[in-house]
Amino acid sequence: MTYSYNFEVREQTLLTPQWVANQKSFLDWDTQPASFKHYPHFCYRVRLSDHPSLQWLLHTRFINDERVVAHKPYRRLNVPSAGNLHPIEIYVQLRNIPGILSGIYHVDVLSMELVMIAEIAGEGLEPYLGMETRFSGAIVMLSLVPFRSSWKYGLRSWRYLYLDLGHQIAALSTSVRHFGLELTKMSPKEDLNRFMGMGEEEFIAAVYGIGESTARPVKPLHKPMMRVQPTDYSESLPLLISTLQTIPPYISLPTTHGYEKYESFNLSRRSAREFDPNQMSDDTIMELMCLNIPDSLEIIPVVLQAHTMQCGVYLNGKCAVNGNFISEILHLLLEQRFIAGANMVVLIYAENFCASSHIEAGIYAQELYMACEYHEVGCSGIGAFYDEEASLWSDNALLYAVAIGGKV
Ligand SMILES: Cc1cc2nc3c(=O)[nH]c(=O)nc-3n(C[C@H](O)[C@H](O)[C@H](O)COP(=O)(O)O)c2cc1C
Repeated sequence: MTYSYNFEVREQTLLTPQWVANQKSFLDWDTQPASFKHYPHFCYRVRLSDHPSLQWLLHTRFINDERVVAHKPYRRLNVPSAGNLHPIEIYVQLRNIPGILSGIYHVDVLSMELVMIAEIAGEGLEPYLGMETRFSGAIVMLSLVPFRSSWKYGLRSWRYLYLDLGHQIAALSTSVRHFGLELTKMSPKEDLNRFMGMGEEEFIAAVYGIGESTARPVKPLHKPMMRVQPTDYSESLPLLISTLQTIPPYISLPTTHGYEKYESFNLSRRSAREFDPNQMSDDTIMELMCLNIPDSLEIIPVVLQAHTMQCGVYLNGKCAVNGNFISEILHLLLEQRFIAGANMVVLIYAENFCASSHIEAGIYAQELYMACEYHEVGCSGIGAFYDEEASLWSDNALLYAVAIGGKV
C-alpha cells in the first residue's frame, strides 16, 4: 500500500534530538564524495556558450560562486541544495539541433561543456520513454546521486534529494520559458537507467522534452552506454537505494513564473545567512504569501515580525491566529539562530508524504527564492526541523520550510 510504504520512509527519516546530537559530532569534510561527475577526457566535448540555441540549458544549472574554503574549492550553484551537496546531474539527448552532432550528452557543470556519451541517428532514448518515433529537439534527464547527500544526512537525505530535485525542475522550467520554449513531461520506463549506464549510485528521477515528436521511427540503443561513477567512492544505504529505484509518479508540469531579470537573479541568488527585519515591507510579506499554491501542498505562513501588520499564523492571506511565535518556530527549526531575524517563515505541509509531494515542495520553494530576488529580500530553504513538533501547526506532514526576511 502506497500510504504505509511512505509512512515507513517518513518514520525512518524523522529528525530527533539524538539524530541532531550525532550530526554535531565531527564530520570530516575531507571524506566528502565528489560533487561533479566527470566523463573520460577522450569523450567529444562542446562548449555550451558556443551554442546560443542552448542558452536555456546554460542557465538551468551552473556555478555562480566559487571560492576556497579550508584549502578546497567551495562552489555554489544557481540552485540551492541542502548542505550545498548538489546530488543532481543533468543529461540531454539532442536531435536536429543546428551545429550540434545528434547524441546523448552529459552536462559537465564544472567546465560548462556538453560531453558526448553516445552518438545517435536511427537509435535513441525515445523507446525508453514510451515513444516509437524520433523526438526532434532536447530530452532533458535529471538524475539523483544519493551518496552525495547521504554521506552527510544518512536516510534523512531521501527528503533532501527530492526537495533539491524540485528546486532543479523549477529552475529548468523557468529557464526554458524565459527563452521562449515549452517543456513536455516524459515518462521513463524501467530500462532507462540501465541504458544510461547507471548502477546503484545514480538514478534518473525526472525527464522532460523540449521539441516535438516526428513521424520517423526510432530504434532502441543496441547497448547500454559507458558506466562512469558519479562520485569518487560511495557507500550504499539499502533502504535509500531501494526507494530511489522507482521513478516518482510526478505528473504535473511546473507552472513557474517568468521574470524579465531572470538571468541576473539566477547569477546572484544566494540563501540568506542573516536577516534585517526592518528591510522587508508588509506589502512584500503579503505578496509572497499569495504566490500560487499547488493543490498537493498546504502552505502555512507564520509572520514573525512586521511593520504594522499582525504577527501570527496566516490562512488565505488573513491572520488566523494572532501572536508572537518566534520561539516556537525557532525550536521547530532546530534553533537555527539566524531565523530569529526573519520576517516570516513559510511552512510547507502535504497530506501525502511521498516523493512527488517533496518535489512539489522544492518547486514551490524555488518559486519563493525567485520571488524574493524580485522583491530584493533574502530567503533560505530549511530542511532541518523536528517532525513531531510540526504537528502543532497542521495535521499534515511538514516537508520543508522557507525563512524569508529583509536583506542585511
Ligand atoms: C532542501 C534544502 C534544505 C536546506 N536546509 C537548510 C537548513 O536547514 N538550514 C540552513 O541554514 N540552510 C538550509 N538550506 C540552504 C543551503 O544550506 C544552501 O542552499 C547551500 O548552502 C548553498 O548555498 P546557496 O543556496 O547560497 O547557493 C537548505 C537548502 C535546501 C535546498
